[in-house]
Amino acid sequence: MKFAKRTNTCGELRISDAGKTVTLNGWVSQVRDLGGVIFINLRDRYGITQITVNSEFQDIYNSAKSLGLEFVISATGKVQQRTSANPNMPTGEIEVLADAIEILNTSEVTPFVVEEDIKASEELRFKYRYLDLRRKKIADNLVLRSNVYNIVHKNFEREKFIEVETPILMKSTPEGARDYLVPSRVHKGKFYALPQSPQTYKQILMVSGLDRYVQICKCFRDEDLRADRQPEFTQIDLEMSFVEEQDVFRVVEGVICDIWKEIKGVELKQPFRTMSYDEAMAAYGSDKPDLRIKGELKIVNITDTVRNTDFKVFADAISASGIVAGIKLSGQDVTRKIIDGLTDYVKTLKFGGLGYIKYNSDGTVSSPMLKFLSEEIQAGIKNDFSAEAGDVLFILSGEKKKVLSGLGNVRLKLAEQFSLTDETRDEFLWVNDFPLFGFDEESGTIVAEHHAFTMPHDADLAKLAEGCEDPGANAELLTSIRAICYDMVCNGSEFGSGSIRIHRGDIQSQVFNVLKLTKQEQEEKFGFLLGAFKYGAPPHGGFALGFDRIIATLCGTKDIRETIAFPKTTSAVGLMDNSPSPVDERQLKDLGITING
Ligand code: AMO
Repeated sequence: MKFAKRTNTCGELRISDAGKTVTLNGWVSQVRDLGGVIFINLRDRYGITQITVNSEFQDIYNSAKSLGLEFVISATGKVQQRTSANPNMPTGEIEVLADAIEILNTSEVTPFVVEEDIKASEELRFKYRYLDLRRKKIADNLVLRSNVYNIVHKNFEREKFIEVETPILMKSTPEGARDYLVPSRVHKGKFYALPQSPQTYKQILMVSGLDRYVQICKCFRDEDLRADRQPEFTQIDLEMSFVEEQDVFRVVEGVICDIWKEIKGVELKQPFRTMSYDEAMAAYGSDKPDLRIKGELKIVNITDTVRNTDFKVFADAISASGIVAGIKLSGQDVTRKIIDGLTDYVKTLKFGGLGYIKYNSDGTVSSPMLKFLSEEIQAGIKNDFSAEAGDVLFILSGEKKKVLSGLGNVRLKLAEQFSLTDETRDEFLWVNDFPLFGFDEESGTIVAEHHAFTMPHDADLAKLAEGCEDPGANAELLTSIRAICYDMVCNGSEFGSGSIRIHRGDIQSQVFNVLKLTKQEQEEKFGFLLGAFKYGAPPHGGFALGFDRIIATLCGTKDIRETIAFPKTTSAVGLMDNSPSPVDERQLKDLGITING
């Protein structure tokens, strides 16, 4: 079918083009009929241009009158200066005075108006995602995503990495979340799993001597979803041989610096700051601290200062080996209502209450705890926090990890409530030296904090050797082991994670012993990896960056779905194609599957 093909895009024409005859192709995003003159806003992914149709040209005027929203048209005419310019549009100084309009396709009335300031519900937007994607804001996110792909590929090519594709249909190996399973027709009763990450393959590629692997890959995890978690998501996945932690850091920083420079025009300073897991937890109550908060709001541990108090709440916590700690907020108007709100908030974190001490500007101190604390202890607390008039201390007591993460949450809440986050900059850091193992209260077992292939620090190898014989009796010793494991954090979001891997069979067996994997289970689950490791595994380590989270940060959103062309809802449903969906009986029969219930 022949049609007048565009000479320009709808975002391109400027006043310097006045006098040119052009053809534009696009979608009708607005029609204003002022009687005698019709203004059409023509949209494509590059922008919007005003097409003006004069009633002097009766034919064109009549076809312009029949246009509906989202019709696809070709408009030809002369570029001219507008009588009243629109400063909000890049093309706002010009219009195209139409001398031909061709309707290339019509459109039914759309379920919502395609406009930048969208009013449609999220459900409707996802169901009709092809219409949603016509909005420049969201299409621009995809353009940015595509630009970042290119920067990443270029960076890794320069760094001499090779891109290797790893299987999508793989063996189910435990990696933290639930697997998505794919039944085999040929081998009835057997299943492939979709990769939660290419972890095992990339390690095997190191055994193969490929030295530097990278892949922008899809990962699949059946887990609880949130704004920054999708059931299928994208990683920049890499692995390197003969490296130590710092080598991985420099490579990952390099790619982040390239992205920030090219997309935001910002030169990030290398090396990024590094903080151990213990430091991050002690000061910020989080393993992904947001360092943009004004005044920092660091946690101060006052356990020693209040150790001899009779105040029951503190005394009980301390006698149960817990801690007392707090945060100081300066220069804010902290009303009774705000304190009540925070108290309610900490109740949702399963704390009985939130202690506070308010140093008023008239020199008085307000605090329900004061009457329980001796003058000496009061002075000690004031000193620990370097508190002055106008400051308020928020204090929690109890089990150490719970108190620290509770205060970490209070810190974020205060930052939100008093707008203390500096949104004008991005703050990157490495958090390293994570515990190798954690203790899962629910199952009462020791679990891997990152994954089972993470190398402990040399200094902790003796603890592993000692504890692995009887893990149940050595939980405290084992959870004190530090791993060569690291996260990259940006603005309080976990951008990525990685570790130096275990390449020695003896250490791997000890870790499996701690995780209570029998020889048979080890063979069943990881036999192929352990097999490969028998034939000369080099020291190696790697990392995976959450690609969607990086793009979301660059787009200024917390919701990664705004950066994914066809996202799923928080209940893992694809509203546009209606997935997951039932399949017909025949397909099930082929697979030997019957559905119960
Ligand atoms: P990890 O499981 O920490 O490590 O994942 C790496 C990064 O991927 C992102 N991410 C997600 N993004 C969106 N939706 C999800 N459901 C989701 N889950 C994780 C996060 C996270 O930091 N194989 C290891 C890496 C390694 O050791 O090399 C791994 O996958 O940004």
